[in-house]
Amino acid sequence: MLIGEEEIRNRVAEISRDVRDQLGELDPIIVCVLKGAFVFVADLVRQLDFPFSVDFLRASSYGNSVVSTGEVKLELDLQQAISNRHVLVVEDIVDTGLTVQYLKANLESRNPASVSVCSLLHKPANNVKLAAVDFCGFEIPNDFVVGYGLDWQGYYRNLPFIAQVHETDT
Ligand code: IMP
Repeated sequence: MLIGEEEIRNRVAEISRDVRDQLGELDPIIVCVLKGAFVFVADLVRQLDFPFSVDFLRASSYGNSVVSTGEVKLELDLQQAISNRHVLVVEDIVDTGLTVQYLKANLESRNPASVSVCSLLHKPANNVKLAAVDFCGFEIPNDFVVGYGLDWQGYYRNLPFIAQVHETDT
């Protein structure tokens, strides 16, 4: 186990206060990046006590699991227009930073008032470019992690904590 349930709960509460300070007056659209962020978003939005809406998108990166090709594809798009709106993109984890970089550029091309990024986890060691994360839950080592929405081959999303996967476990 890397990060326990209580530690996550406390940090999500802190992040929700930071989000409220920055976006609470701005009627933002909170964008849940599927699938991994769904647990984090569900907990985060229930801590927010100001007007906002929620939308979903799905991005997938291609290439093998060791080296990303750098190609990201939008598999499911938002349902609402974001022009002149403040957008908060919520991710499960920023690893190489390519997904966040792609999503920011894609959303910024739609003339929003602003785009900020919130990620529960951040693996700084792997960033090909310094990805701009405005709200970050935890910086973690460069290991594969599961739980609290994050999966290994579709499994373990239900774990209430974040765990490291050791090679012998796979
Ligand atoms: P990127 O390398 O920053 O583009 O990360 C893209 C996506 O890879 C994340 O949104 C996750 O879905 C997935 N990912 C990266 N690292 C992990 C991990 O340690 N566990 C589970 N999924 C991961």
